[in-house]
Amino acid sequence: MPDHVLTLAQVAKSFGANQVLSNVGFDIGQGEIVGLLGPNGCGKSTLLNLISGVLPPDTGRIAFRGEDVTGMTMDRIARNGLVRTFQLPSMPRRMTVAEMLHAAAARKAGFSSLFRRDLDEREEIDGLLTDLALSHVRHLPAASLSGGQKKLLSIALALRTLPRMICLDEPTAGVHPNLREHMIGLLRRINAAGITLLIVEHDMHFIRELCTRCVVLDRGRVIADCTPSELTSNEEVVEAYLGNARQKRAIA
Ligand SMILES: Nc1ncnc2c1ncn2[C@@H]1O[C@H](COP(=O)(O)OP(=O)(O)OP(=O)(O)O)[C@@H](O)[C@H]1O
Ligand SMILES: [Mg+2]
Repeated sequence: MPDHVLTLAQVAKSFGANQVLSNVGFDIGQGEIVGLLGPNGCGKSTLLNLISGVLPPDTGRIAFRGEDVTGMTMDRIARNGLVRTFQLPSMPRRMTVAEMLHAAAARKAGFSSLFRRDLDEREEIDGLLTDLALSHVRHLPAASLSGGQKKLLSIALALRTLPRMICLDEPTAGVHPNLREHMIGLLRRINAAGITLLIVEHDMHFIRELCTRCVVLDRGRVIADCTPSELTSNEEVVEAYLGNARQKRAIA
C-alpha cells in the first residue's frame, strides 16, 4: 500500500493564453481530509478536473494509489476508486433520485455496509437518502431538485461507487446551515470508514471543523500547505485569501 493516496507533481494547465495552474505539487496521505482553498478563479475546480480526469493536464504527473493516472478518463479513474462531485451538479430530467442511486452501481457491497452490515441494496439506498435528508424527494426527477439538494445527491452518488477517495467541489454552497453541520458529521463518518477526502470549500468554519490540513492556491500556484489553525498566521494566505474573505463579509 503506497503511503500517498494522491500525488501531484509539477501539474500545469492553461486555457489559451490563460495559465490557470502552474507547477502544482503536493501529496495526500491515506485517510487525510484536506481542504483546497483560494480566491475565486484561482484554479481549484480546474485542479479537481485534472485529478478526476475531466481534463488532462498540459504537463506534470498525477498518481493515485501509486498508479500513474495522468490523462486517464474520468470513468477509468472512478473505477480505480477516485470520484468527485461538481460545484454546479447537473442532473438528468428523466431519472428520479432513487433511480439514479440504483443506477450508480456499487462495485462491491455498498457504502452503508461499511457502517451497517447485512443491508440489501434498497435498505442501503434508504439509509443514504435518510443520511442526506433526501428521503422525501426520492421519487422526484433528479433535475427538479434544488441546488443544495443536488449537492447532497452528488455525495450520495459518489458513495454508491464505493470510492477510496472523494474530491468535493464546494459541498456546502447553497446548503442550509443546519444541514452543513449535519454534513460535517457525515463526512467525518465517511472518512472514518477509510475514505480520503479533498474538499474545495470557502466556509472557514466547515474547514476548521473538518480538515486536518489545507492547501491554498493563489493564481494557480500553491502558496501554503498547513493546518487550518496556521492559516491566519500565514501572511501570504491572509493577503491573498482571508483578507478578501473578511472584506467580502464586511460588505455583505
Ligand atoms: N474549460 C475551461 N475553458 C476555459 N477556461 C476555463 C475552463 N475552466 C476554467 N477556466 C478558467 O480557469 C480559471 C480558474 O477557474 P476555476 O473554475 O478553476 O476557479 P475556482 O478556483 O474553482 O473558482 P471559484 O472559487 O469561483 O469556483 C478561470 O479563469 C476560468 O475562467
Ligand atoms: Mg470552483
